[in-house]
Amino acid sequence: MTRLAIDGPASSGKSSVGGRVAAALGYGFLDTGLLYRAVTRAALNQHLVSAPTAAVVKSVAPQLEKIAQIVDAELLEGGAAIVIDGRSYAAAELESAEVEALVPLVAALPEVRDALRGVQRRIAGRGRAVLAGRDIGTVVLPDAPHKFFLDASAEARALRRALQRGHAQGSTEHAQILAALIDRDREDRGRAVAPLRAAEDAITIVTDTLTLDEVVAKIVGAVQR
Ligand code: C5P
Repeated sequence: MTRLAIDGPASSGKSSVGGRVAAALGYGFLDTGLLYRAVTRAALNQHLVSAPTAAVVKSVAPQLEKIAQIVDAELLEGGAAIVIDGRSYAAAELESAEVEALVPLVAALPEVRDALRGVQRRIAGRGRAVLAGRDIGTVVLPDAPHKFFLDASAEARALRRALQRGHAQGSTEHAQILAALIDRDREDRGRAVAPLRAAEDAITIVTDTLTLDEVVAKIVGAVQR
């Protein structure tokens, strides 16, 4: 069973790179952030969370854990279909502002992480797979034979994201994206459970000055060697 772990901060290109690497190798691909997002979306749909605060989210941890236990994903080339209780969640509905505000709090709950760790291992165990996330190489698949950590400065990631969304360099939107990324990095690296960090045996690729194709070629080359 060949498994590939790709970790890195928000907007480091994990999903684009992971999807392309999976396609090049003929593997399935799972962006694991979508699992946390789907749990969050399902909780919102069930009106479980009345406000996006840590205290409110913690008070419904047992219910969130139950949802996380029944998440599943079918790995397809270039993406995955996320399903909870027979309902599938499209990527677009997992990217709403409501989900964005709540998902870091949901992802910080040990109960949710424990449940999703089992889910991720089960999915990865079904066949050859690339998993992208924050703690794949360190916690979810510590025995994965291939681990990569994509890194880039917050400035480079913010500029990339701003241009992708059609905002000019130096615009107010660009500044807002940079500020949000710095906050997100602090949350990801500073959380008590499974903080973002490179596994000791991961190959770190700094992507500031690399194109998507170059990053994909480095990873595919390393796996094929
Ligand atoms: O990568 P994305 O922004 O979709 O991740 C959504 C949320 O899930 C983030 O808060 C991130 O910290 C969390 N996450 C995580 N572990 C993963 C993948 C994502 O905690 N393996």
